Amino acid sequence: MKRCLSGIKPTGNLTLGNYIGALREFKKYQDEYETFIFIADLHALTLPIDPAFLRSNTKDIVAFYIAAGLDPQKSTIFLQSDVSAHSEINTILENYLYMGELSRMTQFKDKSSKMKHEAVGLGIFTYPVLMAGDILLYNADVVPVGDDQRQHVELTRDLVHRFNARYNKEVFVMPQAISPKVGARIMSLSEPTKKMSKSDPKGDIFLKDEPNIIRKKIMSAVTDTGNEIKYDPVNKPGISNLLTIYAALSNKTIEEAEKEFEGMSQYGTFKKIVADKVLEELIPFKQRYEEVLKSGIIDQVLTEGAKRASYIANKTLRKVKKTVGLYVHD
Ligand code: TYM
Repeated sequence: MKRCLSGIKPTGNLTLGNYIGALREFKKYQDEYETFIFIADLHALTLPIDPAFLRSNTKDIVAFYIAAGLDPQKSTIFLQSDVSAHSEINTILENYLYMGELSRMTQFKDKSSKMKHEAVGLGIFTYPVLMAGDILLYNADVVPVGDDQRQHVELTRDLVHRFNARYNKEVFVMPQAISPKVGARIMSLSEPTKKMSKSDPKGDIFLKDEPNIIRKKIMSAVTDTGNEIKYDPVNKPGISNLLTIYAALSNKTIEEAEKEFEGMSQYGTFKKIVADKVLEELIPFKQRYEEVLKSGIIDQVLTEGAKRASYIANKTLRKVKKTVGLYVHD
């Protein structure tokens, strides 16, 4: 059976971008693939974070995974820090990616450009190495991610070529990033030329937001001065983003969504329909999330997940150690 792997970093409250670009997609794979979905908590340490906030975000993500339809019996849900093989393979793989490659990563450039050079932690720079290890430990065939993470998966593919060629055998499986056709890059509601991200409270819809707040944010989303509901990301980024959100949540193409609004000349009416659609999806989702939190199953899911993940990850790690010449013995 082919394998699917993905993860989310518990650095903040999850957004509608995380939901449409990734979270909502995961359940589609669990019947067809052996699926591993984890919480990338070691990645969350790459920028300063309050320990209590990190812990509560971590639990939230487990609950969100289950609320989004992941069945812990079918999918292995686990914490990255529970599986020590992630840190171990990282030490090995660091030697197979280059400073030049890492410094060209968009995420690194974005995040580090906002800091003083001396204060840029090593972890934010070597982040893609850890991420490559996440993928390769499970020999994942497919990696469902939003647009912004595709570059990291591409780098992982380069690493696979390089590593397999160096040792002249297929040690690692070549992973492939897959993104939803509609909604792989949801934009900020306040600055629709920028990606919606966990650290942008103004332009974000958080999955935990109250319905009236969500409605308010959508109704006040930045748009242009025209009145046509048309997909045109260059000239009408705000309207295009709302149209994308609507299409993704309605399981429609952009063209189908555009047709629905043909002739409508009031942005207010359009925004109300988009808000209704978002709430129709998020209200029951949040209810399921709250039920999971209340049910007290989280620790049990993680314990079971860590066992299953460790088994697979340690097998790969052993193979990698042998390949590079480390002395593996019983
Ligand atoms: P993270 O936590 O930033 O985001 C989680 C997932 O959400 C997607 N996403 C979006 N999709 C559409 N529109 C947006 N505005 C938007 N914002 C975020 C991301 O593309 C991602 O799929 N490095 C990863 C976590 C990770 C990982 C992995 C993923 C660590 N190891 C191995 C896959 C495989 C990250 O920081 O995602």
